[in-house]
Amino acid sequence: MKILITGTTGFLGSHLVAALTSPSDPLSRERVIFALNRRPPHRNHAQIHPFTWEHTPRGELILPEALRENPASEVLPDVIIHTAAMSSFPGCEENPEAAHRANVAVTEQLVAFAAAHAVSLIFLSTDLIFDGNRPPPVGGFRVSDRPMPRSVYARTKSLAEAKVQQLGPRGLILRTSLLYGNALSDHGGPLQWVKNAIEQRAPIPAFTDEWRTPLAVEELVAVILCCLERKTLGGSILHCAGTERVSRYDFLQAVLETLGADLELLSPTSRTTVGGPPRPADVSLAADEMSALLGRPPLPIRAALKRSLGGSSENSTDCAPVTS
Ligand SMILES: NC(=O)c1ccc[n+]([C@@H]2O[C@H](COP(=O)([O-])OP(=O)(O)OC[C@H]3O[C@@H](n4cnc5c(N)ncnc54)[C@H](OP(=O)(O)O)[C@@H]3O)[C@@H](O)[C@H]2O)c1
Repeated sequence: MKILITGTTGFLGSHLVAALTSPSDPLSRERVIFALNRRPPHRNHAQIHPFTWEHTPRGELILPEALRENPASEVLPDVIIHTAAMSSFPGCEENPEAAHRANVAVTEQLVAFAAAHAVSLIFLSTDLIFDGNRPPPVGGFRVSDRPMPRSVYARTKSLAEAKVQQLGPRGLILRTSLLYGNALSDHGGPLQWVKNAIEQRAPIPAFTDEWRTPLAVEELVAVILCCLERKTLGGSILHCAGTERVSRYDFLQAVLETLGADLELLSPTSRTTVGGPPRPADVSLAADEMSALLGRPPLPIRAALKRSLGGSSENSTDCAPVTS
């Protein structure tokens, strides 16, 4: 299978590439990976073929020529996994045009490419497309609930979702909760600021009034591997989340405990005390369909943190058996 992945320099993209090329996965030898990024890779890997976005004179990203103009069959992927995004919540608010270019215009190009060449596309979206300022339904937002994006980041992701839906059965949207895990790339990952604060013994602000259903990055990678294996989930939206609804404070407490750090560093605070765009209070997702796909619920937070940050053994990436 030929897989084009955008954003392999990022947190999720780097985990995805590591899993897809893992020598312990018997299917990995059958995969060819095209990594599409803004910058060339640091290291070469025989199985990974790097591509770099080109620029228009106005600085917009366009597909590299090899993909843009009559792509040869060797470079034509079976599936695109589009993880690249301007993913900073305040960064998007400060520069809405750049956010639109990165999150909507780039997705639109990939959708046009996928439509022209009958390629499937898996798109990474976010829990933030829901209005988190009213209590979510019991158990969290479901796919049947109406998105109500309240920030530039969320609006651009929601617009991008609409583009992907134009692909019909060739498009799959994975709406993902807050991710966590160890960083494999120089992006540092979502817990880097916590590790830095621990090192510097700086206070760690922890919101007691913001709730999420965090998901370990390894679990999301397992979901994507299942989707690739099944080839049947197109045309749908899947919510990807952990089963525990926790406040940021409780989540960070679990992180600090796993790292053996001083809990006194945690500074309970309200999300309303920070500047920038208003932060949704609760965008918990209900992810029973994800658990059904994996054939098990995702690991509980503390066990997943121990595996990710504490270096314990790998998680199963098997899918549930298909039932007819
Ligand atoms: N992390 C989370 O908690 C979370 C939660 C929900 C949804 N998501 C979604 O999951 C996906 C992956 O997130 P992540 O945490 O892996 O993000 P990340 O670590 O910030 O990585 C973002 C990737 O996108 C690339 N990128 C950034 N700005 C770009 C631009 N203007 N044009 C083209 N590429 C650009 C980056 O490339 P450079 O190396 O060149 O900067 C990097 O490869 C994103 O679509 C995000 O919206 C993430």
